[in-house]
Amino acid sequence: MNSVPTHYQRVLSGMRPTGRLHLGHYHGVLQNWVKLQHEYECFFFVADWHALTTHYEHPGVIGESTLDLVIDWLAAGVNPGSATLFIQSRVPEHAELHLLLSMVTPLGWLERVPTYKDQQEKLKELDLSTYGFLGYPLLQSADILIYKAGLVPVGEDQVAHVELTREVARRFNHLYGREPDFAERAEAAAKKMGKKNAKLYHTLRKRFQEQGDAEALQVAHALLESQQNISLGDRERLFGYLDGSGKSILPEPQALLTPAAKMPGLDGQKMSKSYDNTITLRESAEAVEQKIRTMPTDPARVRRNDPGDPAKCPVWQFHEIYSDDKMREWVREGCTTAGIGCLDCKAPIVAAVQAELEPMRAMAAEYSADPAAVQAIITEGCEKARDEARETLEDVREAMGLGYR
Ligand code: TRP
Ligand code: SF4
Repeated sequence: MNSVPTHYQRVLSGMRPTGRLHLGHYHGVLQNWVKLQHEYECFFFVADWHALTTHYEHPGVIGESTLDLVIDWLAAGVNPGSATLFIQSRVPEHAELHLLLSMVTPLGWLERVPTYKDQQEKLKELDLSTYGFLGYPLLQSADILIYKAGLVPVGEDQVAHVELTREVARRFNHLYGREPDFAERAEAAAKKMGKKNAKLYHTLRKRFQEQGDAEALQVAHALLESQQNISLGDRERLFGYLDGSGKSILPEPQALLTPAAKMPGLDGQKMSKSYDNTITLRESAEAVEQKIRTMPTDPARVRRNDPGDPAKCPVWQFHEIYSDDKMREWVREGCTTAGIGCLDCKAPIVAAVQAELEPMRAMAAEYSADPAAVQAIITEGCEKARDEARETLEDVREAMGLGYR
């Protein structure tokens, strides 16, 4: 049960370092990150261990992409003053938590994660029947839980991983979440609500625990939420005592679904490296111009005088992203009457993409010329992340009986 107001929640997300970022990433993920960094405390990290679960035979690309990935984030407007940027493998606490969580995670939970079979089917050229690949969603759970993140911005394909994380957290809290004198403390906390409320609380708890009465649970939650005079710790205890989950050590996170990227590729399919239809964030001005000029258009427009249909043209999809109503009307009219040529139609798109990329290109060039500055940002982020991760891990070790070490 998460009683912390949304506003104070922490956001965490990661990205695998497997190549250059392109406009699809920008319009999907990065613009979202840039917005979130002003609204929440954000942690964004390079998921290099995750990349190894699939790229273990050719790890070169991981090392080559890691610094560039951070540079692309910075160029896109992710601000190291607002968000903590770090590299997963430099916070080894993720690995220890992954190990500890693996002790309590049923094998079936991992085998049933949809991406497990899907990716094995999809990436046939890779041998993914490894221990690391099976465990990768649990590593992701560790990434999330070690920062007690409340919100995890992910795409549709990753929602199941956040679901798993919730289940793992619940199981962990159930197994280890009780303080030694949990029941006594919860009873004492109930008394602080006053005789009448304490009695109501106990009745509702009994109705839920003995008869599974969900309404009783709801009423009890409302009762707790309305209490002004109990501390945060007592409140958590009372929530945990109600449903038998104990005081939670690892809070359950929620997925924050990233709106599906509407960015089409140069050929009208989804923009993706594997379709070879991308414009990268650091594409040169010449390449941008060339790529857009050679984009396919409505095949019906063989000659300049043949009218076309924007609905059948990838360039139109770019107008839907970059143009205003007036421009779009000009395209519709000009295309269907053969009033404009396709190069005329593409010119404003070239201009819009250049205008979008120009500042990113410049900033990326600046950072690329000064890798020490980027390293300094990363080092600072890693230290901050590590401080947080250490704290959670202390609680986890303690709870699992490893306090003697
Ligand atoms: N698995 C994610 C991906 O492939 C990356 C990732 C790793 C992640 N750990 C995470 C995302 C934690 C969100 C939170 O895209
Ligand atoms: Fe596509 Fe524009 Fe050419 Fe029409 S005029 S086919 S929308 S590029």
